[in-house]
Amino acid sequence: MVSRVRRQAAFSIALVAAAVALGLTLRAQSGVQAAVNAAFAKYQNLHEGKNADYIPALAKVNPNLFGIAVVTADGHLYTAGDLKTEVSIQSISKVFTMARVIQDQGPEAIEKRIGVDATGMRFNSIVSVEFAKKSLGGPEINPLVNPGAITATSMVQGKTADEVWAKIIGTHNDFAGRQLSVLQDVYKSESDTNQRNQAIGMLMYAYEYIKSNPAQATDLYTRQCSIGVNAKDLAVMAATLAFGGRNPVTGKQAISEKNVPYVLAVMATAGLYDDSGKWLYHTGLPAKSGVGGGIIAVSPGNFGIAVVSPPLDDAGNSIRAQRAIRDISTALNGNPYAAAGRKATAN
Ligand code: DON
Repeated sequence: MVSRVRRQAAFSIALVAAAVALGLTLRAQSGVQAAVNAAFAKYQNLHEGKNADYIPALAKVNPNLFGIAVVTADGHLYTAGDLKTEVSIQSISKVFTMARVIQDQGPEAIEKRIGVDATGMRFNSIVSVEFAKKSLGGPEINPLVNPGAITATSMVQGKTADEVWAKIIGTHNDFAGRQLSVLQDVYKSESDTNQRNQAIGMLMYAYEYIKSNPAQATDLYTRQCSIGVNAKDLAVMAATLAFGGRNPVTGKQAISEKNVPYVLAVMATAGLYDDSGKWLYHTGLPAKSGVGGGIIAVSPGNFGIAVVSPPLDDAGNSIRAQRAIRDISTALNGNPYAAAGRKATAN
């Protein structure tokens, strides 16, 4: 009799605990969704900025496209707006190709060959290469601007261009949790107009940063920039970086946990080009933009977020994406530098 009463009491306590936990989870979940909804409503009618047009296909993308997605540790997605329409990933791909090289060859491979300092110059600056060579005398570029990114692509190993491409697209697929494909109209448009990047590839070869065929590296780089992604794909990719390289939706380990901090560090210092400092000052979030209109940002251990909206500011960063991410992260205490409760623990 006594033990039945005890059992019933234990059962009731467990039930109450589960209900409280569920209530807390639901409240936390609705808080995330509320932040996403508020940012979407606030910026839906903001029409500042202009699509990139130096790649003709990008000028044709609907400037009203606006999608927001946040992914939390449990793989739950909180979304608003357009989650289906794909834009070209553009420079955001630089993060994942860099991650591939770090994973295969170690963090020092990127540091020694390319460098990890912000150039403070535009993403396609040739002056930055000359300056690094003549005045700094060493690898003082980084993998998130075009000269460093084309070099990083050249470092992905494979006997043929197809083998290299399989590794690049495979890495992007693992991060996104689905099979992505190239937007052929963007790839053609960019291939027809990327003479400046071809010149950068050749210059990086002349200065011995690139040690293999520079034309192949520039072509594969152009292809990786033309991969089609939607806001949801990008948020899952960001979340994979937020949770130690493990995709929280598929459970697949895309890169080792130990390599993630190197990737995030370069995103923090150079992810929004010459506006990276301003961005970090206000958000504390490692992030990366692309001229297709996407931005990803990572709150380590907390969430991954992405916004797609094509109109850009003068630095080449999506205006609505910057504002929406900043608001949502503030609402969710996303800034890792404001983590007052963290304690040091010895392993
Ligand atoms: O190489 C280029 O110019 C483009 N494929 C990528 C540039 C880019 O996304 C810069 N982003 N803000």
